[in-house]
Amino acid sequence: MRKVWPLRLKKWLANMCGIVGYTGKDEALPFLIDGLMTLEYRGYDSAGVALLGEKGKIEQIKCKGRVAALAELCKKFDTTPTTGIAHTRWATHGEPSDTNAHPHADCFGTLSVVHNGIIENYQELRAELEAAGHNFKSTTDTEVIAHLVEENLKREAKGDLLLALQLATSRMVGSWAIAVIKVDAPHELYVARSGSPLVLATTDTGAYAASDVTALAGITSHVINLEDGQLAHLSYDATRAKGEQARIEVFESDGALVKKPDTFDIDWDASAATMGGYPDFMAKEIAEQPEAIRRLLKDRLTKEGIRLDELNISPKEIAAIDRIYIVACGTSYHVGLIARTLIETWAKIPVVVEQASEFNYEEVLVTQHTLCVIITQSGETADTLASARKMHAAGAKVLAITNVIGSSAAREADAVVYVQAGPEVSVASTKAYTAQMVASVLLALFLAEKTGMMGPREVENKFEELQRVPDLIEEVLTRAWQDEAATPAFTDAQSALFLGRSFGATTAAEGALKLKEISYLHAEAYPAGEMKHGPIALIDNGFPVVVVCPDDHVRYKTISNIEEVKARGATVITLATDNDQKIAQLSDYLLLVPPAPEYYTPIIGVVHLQMLARFVALARGCDIDKPRNLAKSVTVE
Ligand code: G6P
Repeated sequence: MRKVWPLRLKKWLANMCGIVGYTGKDEALPFLIDGLMTLEYRGYDSAGVALLGEKGKIEQIKCKGRVAALAELCKKFDTTPTTGIAHTRWATHGEPSDTNAHPHADCFGTLSVVHNGIIENYQELRAELEAAGHNFKSTTDTEVIAHLVEENLKREAKGDLLLALQLATSRMVGSWAIAVIKVDAPHELYVARSGSPLVLATTDTGAYAASDVTALAGITSHVINLEDGQLAHLSYDATRAKGEQARIEVFESDGALVKKPDTFDIDWDASAATMGGYPDFMAKEIAEQPEAIRRLLKDRLTKEGIRLDELNISPKEIAAIDRIYIVACGTSYHVGLIARTLIETWAKIPVVVEQASEFNYEEVLVTQHTLCVIITQSGETADTLASARKMHAAGAKVLAITNVIGSSAAREADAVVYVQAGPEVSVASTKAYTAQMVASVLLALFLAEKTGMMGPREVENKFEELQRVPDLIEEVLTRAWQDEAATPAFTDAQSALFLGRSFGATTAAEGALKLKEISYLHAEAYPAGEMKHGPIALIDNGFPVVVVCPDDHVRYKTISNIEEVKARGATVITLATDNDQKIAQLSDYLLLVPPAPEYYTPIIGVVHLQMLARFVALARGCDIDKPRNLAKSVTVE
């Protein structure tokens, strides 16, 4: 029975930001600052820390700007306390400023709170608390949490912080991951979660809380996932038996102790999250692409064909799939466009690709045979998660293609394919993009094989060709000089146009997005054949036009478009296949790729456009890894 999903959708709002907390034997500050640096991908307009000393005083240090500025500021303080919480912010309620930076305190500075999320009813709560005599200092939604807890401590909770937090969360509407410290509990930390991620861990020397497992890299591999609605008490007591000194107790929202919290293990390569001699993370992550793809392809072909056990789907279910929805945002959406062509061409299953923020407010046609594939590097993008929930509720099976182990997408989906690209730190996605494309190729081959649309020999051939992709990317990496040489075409430009057809149209879209993200240069991508219906009016002398025109089935058509823009004075930068004399004559700059099957060229060719964007951004003096206004994980709708 076909079911039409109505326009009813629970709002999964969350503000971005990253939080960390620690209580233990060691000084808290080094972990808090390192943790914030790792979580800066979640936002970086202001940062702050609250440290709780033995003397029963909370020291709050906070400032507008990046975590590095906070670290500088912290040098001026006595940093010996062994309990603390910290926050890196991406403003939603209240402008970025020293005052609005977290942590936020109650009226008397007896407790301190950091928060990732949005308290939707904060105005109502604030009015109520102000009427009761509370004094607010900031314009944030978060500050109501501190005062609400303070109020509860005075009244029903009678000094019991866990109960006060529990009562506070029962009044709040929205989403949160919260950490609280209080002056009279110098070795304790209280946390709560609803809608925003929070993971916890203990070691012999302390108890930790963080928005994301990456902040715990090198500290532990065993992690507790605090579930929605739960609270936890983290403590450290040197007098307890060895191995018991750091402790975490998890509670349900009604205060009942959770006997077996949800745990998972991480397979870390701690060095993966450091720059390792590269000038920036983007440079490192671009260079890591061949290795990431090799890792993903390892042992994927067996005598029985493509091995994709993670899919957890029977041949009967595959045969019954009537439609696939691919939903994603940003760069991951571009992966979806490539995946659609591959799946439709090879497996002959109709595919709809949607940007999650649009999809969530549209009617979708779902049957029990509909498969939903969400693609998300971080696994935390709010719109994408909302899409998955919508599809689940409508009865579809949800497959997540993601990079982050234990992320919300991975945990909520029925099946997960991890792309194994390793931590991606730079805000502009590179290695996750190509790895996600390779995972999509595997999915398309798997489906084609299982539906009988592609014979075993052809699957094997295509897989063997795919195994050559990392070597071809390595070759492209040696040609970075071509991208650097093309940089002058953009340095004084106001805008750029990216053109391509078929797979090339998607590569053009991804190239334009990369350029916009990190160089702040306006860039528009258009299917080359559509250009004459509008964008051609933009072109005059020296206007930079990047044309994606490898040796594929639409090459001749695209060459005509190169002629059209050239005739109007454009500076033409062409992504072409080696030894293409015709294109060489027409182009001002060439970004050359070695010959490859056209269905794999998007994975190889995009590497040039990543490098081009980076060189242009460097020439324009931009921050490569942390472009203004952006965040790596967009956990707000
Ligand atoms: C942000 C990032 C992009 C990313 C997009 C989707 O906008 O800056 O690089 O492509 O989110 O993120 P996801 O983690 O869901 O792939």
